[in-house]
Amino acid sequence: EKGGYDYFMLKEIAEQPKAVADTLLGRIDAAGDLSLDEVRIPAAELREVDKIVIVACGTAFHAGMIAKYAIEHWTRIPCETELASEFRYRDPILGPRTLVVAISQSGETMDTLMALRHAREQGARVLAVCNTNGSTIPRESDAVLYTHAGPEVAVASTKAFLTQLVACYLVALYLGQVRGTKWGDEVRAVIRELSEIATQVERVLETMEPVRELARSLADQDTVLFLGRHVGYPVALEGALKLKELAYMHAEGFAAGELKHGPIALIEDGVPVVVVVPSPRGRSVLHDKIVSNIQEIRARGARTIVIAERGDAGVAPYADHLIEVPATPTLLQPLVTTVPLQVFACELATARGNEVDQPRNLAKSVTVE
Ligand code: M6R
Repeated sequence: EKGGYDYFMLKEIAEQPKAVADTLLGRIDAAGDLSLDEVRIPAAELREVDKIVIVACGTAFHAGMIAKYAIEHWTRIPCETELASEFRYRDPILGPRTLVVAISQSGETMDTLMALRHAREQGARVLAVCNTNGSTIPRESDAVLYTHAGPEVAVASTKAFLTQLVACYLVALYLGQVRGTKWGDEVRAVIRELSEIATQVERVLETMEPVRELARSLADQDTVLFLGRHVGYPVALEGALKLKELAYMHAEGFAAGELKHGPIALIEDGVPVVVVVPSPRGRSVLHDKIVSNIQEIRARGARTIVIAERGDAGVAPYADHLIEVPATPTLLQPLVTTVPLQVFACELATARGNEVDQPRNLAKSVTVE
């Protein structure tokens, strides 16, 4: 059942192009229009939405953080993303014009379920983004958009995450469509590239051998830090989470702009720092800022592991290890930049002799609060 792979996680990493393609299937037509008829919230109500709140835990929360960037940029609807476990305890402001999006692979996570129950009690509409047919979270929501990742067995989430991202992009674009948002060429290009993104994920998977080698060389390290900006920031958090749960290493993700506000004190000789670099095209200001962050940490002895767009000559001179990914529109970049981090964590776990599919102390779905 592991299909020739040593671990379910390896199989699930490899299945990502298909999972992504399946989640897109039939949802974007040739003209670039979205059809999400399964989202049974009337268009009239979606037009009235004045705030979006995303609730989720763990990896699904990281997908929600990325979704916030896409939703606000494309639809101009204010959006916040909150840890489901914090949500209801702070008396959040919700109403009939609030759309709550609950993201969950299993559909059984108790923290997320309690958050959505609270939201519905307060009169909000709830849309579930879920991978498990008929599970509790979609059953208790007003509508559901299923991710089609197929069963995810390994405790560490991989293909479910990529499909959650795809589903969130679809939700954002669909909201824009029903609300008649006037899109320029930028968003039209994104829709085109999104519908073909599986090929790019495939390309990343073909180039992972150096990442595995690098991971093995780090098996004796105590700490790995992760930096990112914009949508690269949640990717950094996700890279760190994968490493904690699989390699049992101290791993932390930071927004690169926060470095000088504290974390830079952690940099000393030889500390590996993974940096997720935004594309040099588009929002290139961010690219240049992160390049100077890389120079700063390198000057203090960090060993820089850089994930950057193929051909990014501006960052290459400062990378001790360069991991190149195909060019994609900025907001879609997490679909390609996360994959090397999954491979990295999985290989490090193996090198450290850890149980990859069943990390210690963890369960696949957390059904207690
Ligand atoms: O089933 P869910 O998506 O609701 O699960 C949420 C988290 O428990 C889950 O993503 C967890 O963080 C994973 N082990 C991460 O790899």
